Amino acid sequence: MKKIGVLTSGGDAPGMNAAIRAIVRTGIYHDLKVVGIQRGYTGLLHGEIKEMHIASVGDIIHRGGTILKTSRCEEMKTEAGINKAIGILEKNEIDGLIVIGGDGSFQGINKLGRGNIKVMGLPGTIDNDLAYTDYTIGFDTAVNTVLDSISKIRDTSMSHEKVTIIEVMGRHCGDIALYAGLAGGAESILVPEEQYEVKKICEKMLQGRKRGKAHNIIMLAEGRGSAAQLQKEILNNAGIESRVTVLGYLQRGGVPTAVDRILASKMGAMAVNLLIEGKSNRAIGIKDNHLINIDIMEALTKRKVFDQEMYNLSQILSI
Ligand code: ADP
Ligand code: F6P
Repeated sequence: MKKIGVLTSGGDAPGMNAAIRAIVRTGIYHDLKVVGIQRGYTGLLHGEIKEMHIASVGDIIHRGGTILKTSRCEEMKTEAGINKAIGILEKNEIDGLIVIGGDGSFQGINKLGRGNIKVMGLPGTIDNDLAYTDYTIGFDTAVNTVLDSISKIRDTSMSHEKVTIIEVMGRHCGDIALYAGLAGGAESILVPEEQYEVKKICEKMLQGRKRGKAHNIIMLAEGRGSAAQLQKEILNNAGIESRVTVLGYLQRGGVPTAVDRILASKMGAMAVNLLIEGKSNRAIGIKDNHLINIDIMEALTKRKVFDQEMYNLSQILSI
C-alpha cells in the first residue's frame, strides 16, 4: 500500500471533516501518500484528485460539511461509470480508496472493490440508516441540532398554547425523529417504522387539554409523510389548529459534536490501518461501543432493526 484516496459522497454529515483529517494524518504517519478526491464520485469520474498534506486538514475538525465536497452521481450507477472510475483510480496509482457516505455510496464502493484496488467504507450520514452499525457519523450532531430547535419551539408553543408539528429528515429511517423526540419530550413521534392514526393523536391532544395542557409537540419523520398534510388531517379530524416547522437542511450542517468527532477520528484511523494490513471491502462501524469492520456486501444486506423499546418508552413518557 503506497497511495490511498479519500472521497465523501451522498448527503454531507457533520464529522466528515474529522474523518478526512484522521485518514490523511494516519496515512501520512505511516508514510503513505494520501490524495483527496473532490465532489464524490462525480469528481472521481472527472479525475479531480489532489495530494493532501498534514496542513490540508488543519483547522477542520470542528467544521460541518466536507472540505472535499460531495455529490450524487448517476453515472456511477452504470457499468460504464464503474469501469471508468476503476480506470481513473488505476491511472492515478491509487491502491486503496476510502469512501465516507451512506448506503448508496456503499453500493458504489462495493462495485469499485471488485478490481485490484482495496476499498473501505465509513458510515457518514445524518440518517443513521445503516443496519450494520449502531451509529453513523453525523447522526449525533443532527439529533442535537433538532433538539435545540425543539427546545426553542417548545418555548413559543407553550407560551401560545399551540400544537406544533416538527418535520425532520432521515429519508426512510425514523431515528432522528425518535432520538430527538425522546430527548425533547415530544408528545407524539411519527416514524416510517410505525403505523399511526391521526384520530389517536387527536384524542391524546384533547385529553391533554382536559388536564390543562394546551401545547403539544409532534415529531414527524419525513419518511412518514409531510407536516403540511398532517396539519390538515388534524384540523379536519378534531378542529385543532397547529403550526408547522420543517427543519430541512439546517439538520445537515453545524459544528460536529464530540461524539461525532471521536467516532469519525477512530473510524478514519481504522480504515487506514486495515488498508495497511492488506484488507479490502470492509465497512467500518460501531457495535456495543466497539469499533467493528465487516464485509461491505454483508453490511449492505443487513436490514435495520427499529428500536422498538425506545419507541415504547417515548409513548409511555408522553402520556
Ligand atoms: P448516500 O450515500 O448518502 O446514501 P445516495 O443514496 O444518494 O446517498 O448515494 C450517493 C451516491 O452513491 C449516488 O449518487 C451514486 O453516485 C452512488 N450510488 C448509489 N447507488 C449506487 C449503486 N447501486 N451502484 C453504484 N453507485 C451507486
Ligand atoms: O441522506 C441525508 C439526507 O439529508 C436525507 O435525510 C434527506 O432525505 C436527503 O438527504 C435529502 O437529499 P438532497 O440533498 O438531495 O435534498
